[in-house]
Amino acid sequence: MKNNGLTIAIDGPAAVGKSTMGKLIARELGFLYIDTGAIYRAITWKVLKNNIDINDEDTISELVSNTSITIEKTDTKNLNDYYHIFVDGEDVSEEIRDPWIDQNVSQIARLPKIRKQLIYLQRKLAEKANIVMEGRDIGSVILPQADIKFFFTASEEERIKRRYKELIEKGYNIGYEVVKKQIIQRDKIDSKRKYAPLIRAKDAILIDSTGKSIEEVKDKILKIINKFREYRKKQIENNII
Ligand code: DC
Repeated sequence: MKNNGLTIAIDGPAAVGKSTMGKLIARELGFLYIDTGAIYRAITWKVLKNNIDINDEDTISELVSNTSITIEKTDTKNLNDYYHIFVDGEDVSEEIRDPWIDQNVSQIARLPKIRKQLIYLQRKLAEKANIVMEGRDIGSVILPQADIKFFFTASEEERIKRRYKELIEKGYNIGYEVVKKQIIQRDKIDSKRKYAPLIRAKDAILIDSTGKSIEEVKDKILKIINKFREYRKKQIENNII
């Protein structure tokens, strides 16, 4: 499972800035960026499109077996269009960000069978190169051997404000209270589920972005990564690994 490159895991609750930071860091380092939340969202999109009950684990599991999910990086440096995700060849990058997906995704992501099926796909994607992979259980379940693990946090109020702003800017007609309810509910389901809950791995570095600018957080993270790379280089030079 472990590749020769560097593996960076980012976990944390909803709207904490994992995607923004993950993309920024991957872009800066020339690493592959994998947003595992997008995979759960893509499955949710197909489940809802096919009018399948979000609690019907067996039917969803069969659907997952018969679904092809692919991720392609674009050649733009624009963070809002950094990669596209396809379900059976259909580009669903926009659709999976709809609040209707927010409303349902955690119910599907809590199903153990589905998570177990998606472990394989996520690990396969992680084999490819130097990567930044983000989600809820990357440091704890998907890539427990990751070289560097970060656990992001920010106050609930700040996270809700960020997500609300993002949706309004995209043109969604949604109220602040609805966004608040969705985020609180999602975090609750994601962290209380029995199998692979949202958790800070013991060896994950805590990054609290409350009141901090994106640049500030990015600099801090890059410093940690560069320090690790120097340490790894010395180890190789001294034949320790
Ligand atoms: O990162 P995101 O908000 O786009 O993720 C959407 C949902 O997918 C999240 O609420 C829970 C689920 N998810 C998960 O269970 N495990 C992951 N590794 C990533 C996301």
